[in-house]
Amino acid sequence: MAIRRVGVVGAGLMGSGIAQTCAQSGYETVVREINQELLDKGLARICGAWDMMVSKGKLTQGQAGENRARLHGTLDLEDFADCDLVIEAVIENMEEKLRLFPVLDRILKPEAIIATNTSSLNVTQMGAVTKRPDKVLGMHFFNPAPVMKLVEIVQTISTSPETIDTVKEFAISLGKTPVLAKDTAGFIVNFLLIPYLLAAIRMLENGQASRDDIDTAMKLGCGYPMGPFTLLDYVGLDTTLWAAEAIYNEFKDPLYAPPPLLRRMVQSGMYGRKSGKGFYTYE
Ligand code: 3HC
Repeated sequence: MAIRRVGVVGAGLMGSGIAQTCAQSGYETVVREINQELLDKGLARICGAWDMMVSKGKLTQGQAGENRARLHGTLDLEDFADCDLVIEAVIENMEEKLRLFPVLDRILKPEAIIATNTSSLNVTQMGAVTKRPDKVLGMHFFNPAPVMKLVEIVQTISTSPETIDTVKEFAISLGKTPVLAKDTAGFIVNFLLIPYLLAAIRMLENGQASRDDIDTAMKLGCGYPMGPFTLLDYVGLDTTLWAAEAIYNEFKDPLYAPPPLLRRMVQSGMYGRKSGKGFYTYE
């Protein structure tokens, strides 16, 4: 099936990045938020990124205008009725997703595909609350979505090979490289990345080294673009905590048990860059 019109549920950090990527790759894109303030914020983030690309000479004013014309904001899920693919990028909360999926299932045309951008929750369970589990899969983007080249495609027991092929082709059309993962918590990247990030927090808790020295060590010693604390703040401490909990719940491996410091920072509203404070402070 050819994908022409894409819906994105959620215009937060990931949802807006995914919507930006789809619209600038030539797809009619509808992005939905729960209130006007959040929608305006998400659309402003996207248009700001296009303005930045124009100022860097990566995009002409005309192309930025065409991108804007392809991007439609809405508060109404019914506006997804004509979409061929809907990508869910709401909060990492299973109850929210299990409420949303049957609604999408009712609204979308029968042949449409529903993808979730979850980083570690059970995709099979989301498919099971729809009447189209063969057309439900994971499509996990990385932050910042317009820049990071990877998309993890997550196949449940029920996802059909045709759905996987269509979404693989779609990911390639966005300029991404797809990799295929089974539906087990953490997929590929977070299964490997989360223990590393949690280990950095434990090192800090134990006083083994300072925040800055741990970040510098991993940047200069391993050539990583960001040290673990910069990356934690970038990804979001809340997102990291949810991912760690989801993988821990699945495998009960202590490697994934969230350290007390992470939980307490999240409880205090220290989410990282997006809240202005995490391991670092932001203007
Ligand atoms: N749209 C278009 N372009 C964008 C953009 C956007 N929204 N945001 C950034 N860019 C472009 C910039 O314009 C810049 O382009 P240029 O090189 O041509 O000038 C380029 O991206 C790099 O951006 P910056 O110059 O601002 O910054 P850096 O060179 O420091 O790179 C980074 C920033 C790409 C974020 C880099 O530091 C990096 O790769 N960090 C690691 C990110 C990472 O690991 N992400 C994965 C996290 S895990 C995850 O998301 C999974 C989740 O489930 C937890």
